[in-house]
Amino acid sequence: MSLLIKNGRVITSTADCEADVLVVGETIAKIAASINAADHPNAEVIDASGKYVFPGFIDPHVHIHLPFMGTNAIDDHASATKAALAGGTTTVIEMICPGPDDEPMAAFHEWKDLAAAGACCDYSFHLSVVRFDELAQQQLRELVASEGVASFKVFLAYKGALDIADEQLFELMKTARELGVIITAHCENAEAVDSMQKQLLAEGKTGPEWHEPSRPRSVEADGVSHLCTFAELTGAHVYIVHTSNAAAVSQAMQAKSRGVNVFVEAVAPHLVLDKTYAERPDFEGAKYVMSPPLRDGEEHEHLWRSLASGDMVTIGTDHAPFKFSGQKDMGRDAFTLIPNGIPGVQERVDLVHTHGVCAGRIDLQTMVDVCSTQAAKIFGLYPCKGEIAVGSDADVVIYDPHFTGVFSHADAESQVDYSGYEGMERKGRCELVIRRGDIVARDGRYVGGGGGGRYLPRIPTH
Ligand code: URP
Ligand code: ZN
Ligand code: ZN
Repeated sequence: MSLLIKNGRVITSTADCEADVLVVGETIAKIAASINAADHPNAEVIDASGKYVFPGFIDPHVHIHLPFMGTNAIDDHASATKAALAGGTTTVIEMICPGPDDEPMAAFHEWKDLAAAGACCDYSFHLSVVRFDELAQQQLRELVASEGVASFKVFLAYKGALDIADEQLFELMKTARELGVIITAHCENAEAVDSMQKQLLAEGKTGPEWHEPSRPRSVEADGVSHLCTFAELTGAHVYIVHTSNAAAVSQAMQAKSRGVNVFVEAVAPHLVLDKTYAERPDFEGAKYVMSPPLRDGEEHEHLWRSLASGDMVTIGTDHAPFKFSGQKDMGRDAFTLIPNGIPGVQERVDLVHTHGVCAGRIDLQTMVDVCSTQAAKIFGLYPCKGEIAVGSDADVVIYDPHFTGVFSHADAESQVDYSGYEGMERKGRCELVIRRGDIVARDGRYVGGGGGGRYLPRIPTH
C-alpha cells in the first residue's frame, strides 16, 4: 500500500515548505517539491492543498491502565489509543504505575500484555518505581537490558500510595545514571501535601475547591528543587512531568544553569484551564481535580513563554480519565478522595493549535517540536518517530487549520463521561491521521480497525 500526499505544507520542528510526500508500506519513501503521480500508479493520491502535513504527534505522558485512589482509570488501551489517533497522536508513552507491594517485572508484563491486546497506536512505557529493594533493583536492570525500558518514573507525591522514600530515590538515581536511564518525576512535597490536606479537612474545607490550596505552587517548586539536588549529586538525567507554574520552572532552570540535565514538561490542562474550574459549584469542580492542581490563569502566559523560549520542552496531556459519575464522586465528602486526573489525549493537538499557534504564543515549528520531536529525542524514539524524513515511520497528520468548532464530549473516543474542555472554541482539526502508512482517522474520528499498535522498545541514551 502506498500513499502520495500532494501539495501540502510540510511542517517539522526545523522546516516549513511546500512538498509532496510518498509513503510506501510503513515508511516515508520520498519527499520532493513535486512527485509525479503517474510514476506511482499504485499509490492512493491525497490532495493536501491548504493543509499542514505534520509528523505524527507523540504524547509522552498518558495513563491508561491506572489503579489509583481506590479505583481504576476508565479507559482501556483500545479506547484511549483510538482517542489519541482521532486527535493526531500516533505514539503514546504510558506510565506503568504499580503499587508499593508489586514487583516491577510483573507490573511491566501486566501493562505490556494489556497494551498488546488493545492498543491501536504505537506505545512505549515509563516504569514507575515505588520500591527499590534488592529484588526490584535486579528486575529493573533486567527490564532495561532485555525489554527496552529506558525511562523510570518517580512520584514525590501521593504519600503512602505511590511515593518513594528519599533513601531509595537516591539509590535509584545512582543506578539510573549508571544505566543511562532518564528519571521522569512528579514533583511535589508529599509530606507537606499530606499535612495540609489533614488541616483543611479538619477545618471543614472538604470541597474540590480546596484541592489547589492543599498543594500550592511552593510545594511543587520545592519538589522540583529536591529532585534537581538529587540529580546534581548523582548525575542522573531528569524530566519533570506536568509542571504547572513559573516558580517550579524557575527551580529547574536554576538547576540547569548549574549543569543539571533537566527537561521540563507542560501538560495541556495547565496551559488552558485555571483553578476556577475546580471551584465550580455542585461538585462539578471535581472534574478538574488533578495534581499538581490547576493554577491561577496568570500562569498560562508564563508556561507558554517557557515553551516558546525552550525552558519547557514538551507538551503532554497527563490523560487520566475517571468518570464523574461513580468515580470522581467518591470524593463528595472529602476532596482528598476525588481520583486525580483530567482526560485529554484526544484534544491536545487542537488545544495547542488553538491556544498556542492561533493565539500567537508559539509558532508552528515549536508546536511540532514540543508535541512530537522533542519527546522522540528525549525518550529515544527519534528519528523513527517525531520527524518527516525519508526512512522515518509513516506517522503523518494532515491538518486542516481552517476548521472551527467547539470541543465536545460527543466527539470523544475515551470512555470517560465528560470533556474537560466542553464548549471551548476549537481552531483546527486532523483531517487525516496516518499510522505507519494506514489511514486510521478522518475529520477527527477514528476509522481504523481494532489493534494495530506496536510496542516501541528503547535504548537508554542518557
Ligand atoms: O492528577 C493526576 N495528574 N493524575 C494522574 C496521576 C499523576 O499524578 O500523574
Ligand atoms: Zn503526576
Ligand atoms: Zn500523570
